[in-house]
Amino acid sequence: MEKLIVEGGRPLHGTVRISGAKNAALPLIAATLLAPGQHRLGNVPDLRDTRTFLKLMENLGVRHERQGDALLIDSTNLNGSEAPYELVKTMRASVLVLGPLLARLGRAKVSLPGGCAIGARPINFHIMGLEKLGVTCRLEHGYVDAEIAGRMQGSTIYFDIPSVTGTENLLMAAVMAEGTTIMKNAAREPEIANLIDMLTGMGADIEGRNTDKLTIRGVPQLGTADCDIIPDRIEAGTYLIALVATGGEGTVTHCNPAHLPSLLEKLRAAGIIVEETETTISVRWPKDAAGQKSLKSVDIKTMPFPGYPTDLQAQFMALMSLSSDICVITETIFENRFMHVAELQRMGAGIRIDGHSCVVSGRGLQGLSGAPVMATDLRASSSLVIAGLAATGRTEISRIYHLERGYENLVEKLTGLGASVWKEEE
Ligand code: EPU
Repeated sequence: MEKLIVEGGRPLHGTVRISGAKNAALPLIAATLLAPGQHRLGNVPDLRDTRTFLKLMENLGVRHERQGDALLIDSTNLNGSEAPYELVKTMRASVLVLGPLLARLGRAKVSLPGGCAIGARPINFHIMGLEKLGVTCRLEHGYVDAEIAGRMQGSTIYFDIPSVTGTENLLMAAVMAEGTTIMKNAAREPEIANLIDMLTGMGADIEGRNTDKLTIRGVPQLGTADCDIIPDRIEAGTYLIALVATGGEGTVTHCNPAHLPSLLEKLRAAGIIVEETETTISVRWPKDAAGQKSLKSVDIKTMPFPGYPTDLQAQFMALMSLSSDICVITETIFENRFMHVAELQRMGAGIRIDGHSCVVSGRGLQGLSGAPVMATDLRASSSLVIAGLAATGRTEISRIYHLERGYENLVEKLTGLGASVWKEEE
């Protein structure tokens, strides 16, 4: 196993190019199951999670070839309908094959994912929605065994809470159902609009893109896809926070500022100058801050898009640990997403957990000190990297395979910004 060494205390500067979004790539790869033929996806990040997903696709008889950042996927010889526990347990998003396999083959057997480091994360909405479409789902031996004779039947599906992969799974199921499906209180994250664009390009009829009400008029079959993955808004947000946390300045490129409305407002509220073009975001300190930079404390509360993303909560907490006052960070999406707190405390952060909120007493920009810490999940890990970059001295982050699930070329990109960071065998 490898660990990440960070020699902190150097302001980051420069420009970093953002990769394609992990959480868009996974459902778009799954959607290639819907129609036989050769599909092309562009801007696909090369991550542990995309590789795991492609392994799952290979298990189903789907071949792929990488050409630069594009993936050519041939799903003509689809010959399986099972997502085994060995793959699902390492990546919950494997459940995304459920909808498209049912649409194409009328059957699917997918392992129940179980809990994970950030919460219980059930898939009851996915199952409820499929049953509404006429699918019979049996839960046996740790698997969802689902089947339907003939096409699914359009229906009305209501989500108690907007679910990102739930909306994606049911979209992929409903596009080839007989009749019209209406989804209410659907998630409207940018990754869902990306999936809708791909499905529409394949011949699907979907209304309501970027809203919480989706109307899907089923079509008997779909054609092949040619679609680019949107930029990774969470990766972009992570680098912006890292630049600011180290007292540095810089620009993220090849991103979409419209996908990060809440983070950019929160950075502005903290006193940072944020400038946007169509595809870049720059952060810099106000002129009079030279020599005595300080960050204002800003409360955040995680919410479905366009609210503040839960996937940037841990990183913002690392940032607020370096602010000048006290703020409250509230997590409303996942019940156990404060695993980074104990690790940040080891670096000197002043954080107290109170139910679903954390009270963060900022220590000032150079207020953290390097320490050995442990990565617990993907986003928690990136908050430790940010804290390590800002802290004085050396931070050693173990279990960095979590980071490799979602950040493409992390070490190279940080080095390009002037960070002193490298991997070592544990
Ligand atoms: N929920 C249920 N039942 C369900 C589905 C969801 O109760 O059947 C609850 C969840 O427990 C949670 C809330 O609904 O409280 C929202 O969860 P959601 O279903 O939206 O999460 P997800 O689809 O499993 C995706 C991302 C996560 C991201 C969340 C929230 C992918 C592959 N994963 O998960 O990304 O945190 O949406 O935005 O898109 C990450 O990239 O690190 C990551 C965890």
